Amino acid sequence: MASLLPQSSLIIHHAFSYLMIFIYLMITIISSLLALLILKQKIYCSCQICHSYVTMSWSREFVNLCDWYTHLLRKSPTRTLHVHALGNIITADPKNVEYILKTRFDNYPKGKPFSAILGDLLGKGIFNVDGHEWMFQKKMASHELGRVSLRSYCFQVVSYEIEQRIFPLLSSVAGESESGVLLDLQDVFRQFSFDSICQFSFGMDPMFLESCHSMNSFAASFDLATRLSAERAMKISPLIWKMKRLLNVGSEKRLHNAIKVINLMAQEIITQKRKLGLVGQQDLLSNLMDCVQDDKYLRDIVVSFILAGRDSVASALSSFFFLLANHPDVEEAIAREADRVIGEGQHLTSFDQIKDLHYLQAAVYENMRLYPPVQFDSKFCLEDDVLPDGTRVRRGTRVTYHPYAMGRMEEIWGDDCLEFKPKRWLRDGKFYQENPFKYPVFQAGPRVCLGKEVALVEIITVALWLIRHYSIKLAASNCSSVPKFSPGLTATFRDGLQVLVTQKIRPS
Ligand code: HEM
Repeated sequence: MASLLPQSSLIIHHAFSYLMIFIYLMITIISSLLALLILKQKIYCSCQICHSYVTMSWSREFVNLCDWYTHLLRKSPTRTLHVHALGNIITADPKNVEYILKTRFDNYPKGKPFSAILGDLLGKGIFNVDGHEWMFQKKMASHELGRVSLRSYCFQVVSYEIEQRIFPLLSSVAGESESGVLLDLQDVFRQFSFDSICQFSFGMDPMFLESCHSMNSFAASFDLATRLSAERAMKISPLIWKMKRLLNVGSEKRLHNAIKVINLMAQEIITQKRKLGLVGQQDLLSNLMDCVQDDKYLRDIVVSFILAGRDSVASALSSFFFLLANHPDVEEAIAREADRVIGEGQHLTSFDQIKDLHYLQAAVYENMRLYPPVQFDSKFCLEDDVLPDGTRVRRGTRVTYHPYAMGRMEEIWGDDCLEFKPKRWLRDGKFYQENPFKYPVFQAGPRVCLGKEVALVEIITVALWLIRHYSIKLAASNCSSVPKFSPGLTATFRDGLQVLVTQKIRPS
């Protein structure tokens, strides 16, 4: 009996494995057939664009999908196109953008398909909800991020980060000559913006968490989870990823595992916050924890804020240094202006001084015109509609506005729209802001970015400090004029931003 038992359980085990393999194969075959059916209907719209998308033939001519869309939108007389295979209307017309984001805001919510795609990562966090849930989080976040004192608090946090973390790191790799060590500046910016967002939003230095978890594994999991979630949105049918999720295989299994690590870290932030006590704390999370007890909901909010603050700022800083390395005249003009306004060899002492750095602000905005951190953003149409340019939109259609393409439209920015020219943002030497529907880099309308001011403090302070102290040259691998981006929710250089750093002047 004793020797029979293991044998019979072995047989049962084998039978079970075969059954599982059979079920897996059946589901794969059925889902593939269904996907093919859907594809057949969608592909045979006899349209060149859909054919290029499905066969990926666009990649023979263009480095990035956003460059191909830009090319198509520049050719389209209405500056709008329809990718039938994706059920996606994409527009670069400011009148359409204003209509979607403001005039008919109620008809263009994030929608259920979007929530499904990002639901596992973002849950019910602000980026992934509409209606009352969005309104509640928006109120809390606007209260916190709209405080007048926030700018100077941000400035303190950023200054601390620069002195305690960025400066020692750069000093350790900066050579006297150009034969120094290569550094991935994009990585440095990601670490910096993660640390900063944790302090602004959660009142917590992530160094505090380092003893409990590896920050590197958290960062890697976060990158993987955002990339795999974004890839879901590029699939022609959601059926395939949903099936893979059900079976926990392939990319869905990797996504599941990455989210597990993110959950552990988010829980750690919430637990540490409780231990520290909420009394007298002014950060967003403490305020939320006063009225929300559900840890799952708090987790979703924490993850959304890390996403909002980490990748976008790092993206803007990375493309800025990519552009400056290719435009030394702009870098010199920024340094000259800083010497004039702040004083040669003098340090920035408050954020107010930045208001007088008009050329620097212009350069930062010009950078995001050409390289918006959020290259495109989608809504879903609730009821049949017609856009101002005459495009008919059926309910359930995904409608995307495309800041990356909009930054490259001649009728918005003129014949020199492809050039990096900060001066286009100056009037009589003073920086002025453009209409947000022509430049929806921070979105516009009721769902406009709530962290814009925080982001600008971070970008401007770090950029200025680096420009004044270091000379940053691109490594040969980053010298191409068109950067390659990874698919993801935020624009990220596929191979990082490899640079050589040399010291300009020795900071006192
Ligand atoms: C250069 C940096 C940034 C850019 C380009 C940017 C851009 C955007 C965009 C395009 C959206 C709309 C997203 C959507 O609805 O799908 C958005 C929303 C938002 N951003 Fe930012 N963002 C930046 C930095 C930040 C920072 C640092 C924070 C937080 C401190 C932040 C907080 C938010 C929040 C809370 C929302 C949601 C607003 C809502 O849905 O009502 N952002 N941002």
